[in-house]
Amino acid sequence: MPNPQLNAHGELAHLLSIDGLSRDILTRILDTASSFLEVSDRDVKKVPLLRGKSVFNLFFENSTRTRTTFEIAAKRLSADVINLDVARSSTAKGETLLDTIDNLVAMHADMFVVRHAASGAPYLIVDHLRRTGRSDVRVVNAGDGRHAHPTQGLLDMYTIRHYKKDFAHLTVAIVGDILHSRVARSDILALNTMGVAEVRAVGPQTLLPTALEKMGVRVCHDLHDGLRGCDVVIMLRLQNERMNGTLLPSAREYFKCYGLTPKTLALAKPDAIVMHPGPMNRGVEIASEVADGPQAVILPQVTFGIAVRMAVMSILAGN
Ligand code: CP
Repeated sequence: MPNPQLNAHGELAHLLSIDGLSRDILTRILDTASSFLEVSDRDVKKVPLLRGKSVFNLFFENSTRTRTTFEIAAKRLSADVINLDVARSSTAKGETLLDTIDNLVAMHADMFVVRHAASGAPYLIVDHLRRTGRSDVRVVNAGDGRHAHPTQGLLDMYTIRHYKKDFAHLTVAIVGDILHSRVARSDILALNTMGVAEVRAVGPQTLLPTALEKMGVRVCHDLHDGLRGCDVVIMLRLQNERMNGTLLPSAREYFKCYGLTPKTLALAKPDAIVMHPGPMNRGVEIASEVADGPQAVILPQVTFGIAVRMAVMSILAGN
């Protein structure tokens, strides 16, 4: 089956998932992001690459980092940005997602940035645009259910490349609620594509999906085994909003077994970096001493996210 995010020439037309994207495409996005990083340091933080284009932010689920950095990125590319206020939109009166899309296309939308609780919602939009002859309108997945969060995966790769330079010899541990995490799925796909030496998934059995080993991931139920000798530690929060029933005894127990503290972080390499996509739950998956400590690169991840999202939108717009 053809990859719906690529056009007939194998170029990126939409960004829906890391799945099926080559190392060349990922590297091109990261290299393009590098060229945008300095735009944020200019007096006039703008380039005209999306001048005259309308970018619609459609966030049907809460967001702080992704929604805001997409808005900043689009504005730095000189696009007109429209943030649909979903809570006050006609979605609340029963309008379907695709009717909303048709109406926004009628307002001359050029790009949709979509976050939705339903896995696959951005794919549905891409398919609808194709069937209605509007494949020129671009779609970026800003997180769909527990399926994918490709720009988070890309900004995580950007962060790792920034601090570690070469992917080939790295051991990366992803710790926490991997079962419900679209970030973990996107990171694992991207890390494998970029050719890291080892990806470890660390967490209790109830929070790890069964298919991890098929993805080439080493599964560790013991935090100490998982962290030993790592170059990169990616911490994930417990995604209670996606859990059906209780999968853990308590947050306190969880922190005791899987919380990243100065003592457990000492098992990783001395120059290991600590990442977290946010939002963090301090005292649940990460101690404040680590979150605010010298090895944390959690806030630089957010800053890099602007450049990476500029790169994605610019490439999709044909630049
Ligand atoms: N990392 C991430 O997706 O954060 P937000 O939910 O705040 O966008």
